[in-house]
Amino acid sequence: MVPAAFPAAMLRGMYADYFGLKQPPFSIAPDPHYLFMSERHREALAHLLYGLGSGGGFVLLTGEIGAGKTTVCRCFLEQIPKRCNVAYIFNPKLTVVELMRSVCDEFLVPYPEREPGAATVTDYLDPLNAFLLRTHGVGQNNVLIIDEAQSLSPDVLEQLRLMTNLETHERKLLQIILIGQPELRDMVAQPGLQQLAQRVIARFHLEALTERETAQYIRHRLAVAGMTGPIPFLGDTLQRIHRLCRGVPRRINLLCDRALLGAYASGKVVVDRSIVDKAAREVFDASEVSASMPATSRRKALRLALAGGLAIGLVVGAAAFAGAPWLMERLRGRAAMAPAPVPSATPAASVPRVNLASSPAVAASAAASGSSDAASAAPTAISPASAPPAVPALAPASQAH
Ligand SMILES: Nc1ncnc2c1ncn2[C@@H]1O[C@H](COP(=O)(O)OP(=O)(O)O)[C@@H](O)[C@H]1O
Ligand SMILES: [Mg+2]
Repeated sequence: MVPAAFPAAMLRGMYADYFGLKQPPFSIAPDPHYLFMSERHREALAHLLYGLGSGGGFVLLTGEIGAGKTTVCRCFLEQIPKRCNVAYIFNPKLTVVELMRSVCDEFLVPYPEREPGAATVTDYLDPLNAFLLRTHGVGQNNVLIIDEAQSLSPDVLEQLRLMTNLETHERKLLQIILIGQPELRDMVAQPGLQQLAQRVIARFHLEALTERETAQYIRHRLAVAGMTGPIPFLGDTLQRIHRLCRGVPRRINLLCDRALLGAYASGKVVVDRSIVDKAAREVFDASEVSASMPATSRRKALRLALAGGLAIGLVVGAAAFAGAPWLMERLRGRAAMAPAPVPSATPAASVPRVNLASSPAVAASAAASGSSDAASAAPTAISPASAPPAVPALAPASQAH
């Protein structure tokens, strides 16, 4: 049976091959291999580590969605010394009692079993306090990390503050790290949470990447994915990507992934501005995209949309690749031209090699962006594995609905 649509993972595998990459470089999965330590990510990590040694209280790490807070936190977890016990809570939409139970579970602290609904805070607080004292006695630290902490209710925040009350004469026994979106800062600044605010010993707001860092980030991910030659993004597209993504790594991943797929679907070896803009319209809210375009481009985009070039009636692949009808149409077109799929190998010699470095556009881009890969580099053919897409046949549009 012919599949009605490409699974997204398969498409990514195909474009990765096409660009000579070992794997898709812009997955939004948090893969530590792809970690890019910008100055600001480094600083955020330093703040978390500082909190570890400072003897209790709260550390706040805030930043826009997708800025890399959880990524930094994972990095932090890897660096925590053995003598430190960690409780990590990433779903903080909890009541006070649920929170206390989760904290005990995370620290492996036993507590009395109660009928559902009958447990009280004390059921958990007493054994937890005993645990904190006992571990302190043998030289261990305890850290409670709460991710997405902007979802905490005020009474849970107050309970957390009470938990930091436990102290010996030289130090508090529990270090709490709150990680969350920017509104967390405002929450903590509210008059009702003054006492908590006074216990914040370090805070850091993780800003988005600068234009330069965005370019470095893109190059970094491509390099980790196995790109050795010039990158397929033209110089001015990097600027454009930065603008469209506001320097937010997750948005950069979404856009670059879709743009590479778009280039692949169009049989292009470079990503130009029009591919980026088209990809942006697919992955982001239309109003955001047009707001970041100069007026002339906005008018052009509007004309395009009115001409019916966007989305109308093209539903193929919606299940597998929602929001990219133009792409699916292209891929289906390429599929129709492609030979019937041959399992495991299209002979490499039978397909033309794609030579990125010999593309004048890439050369200009590399020169303009001061890439060390440089335009002058000896032409680098993408490996034979990067044959133009031998896309498996798709069901005709009528079957694909
Ligand atoms: N410093 C970084 N290095 C590599 N990838 C990153 C980095 N920061 C963010 N990302 C990418 O962006 C995605 C979203 O980051 P995440 O840490 O979940 O953001 P946040 O927690 O701030 O919402 C990650 O899964 C990862 O793919
Ligand atoms: Mg997160």
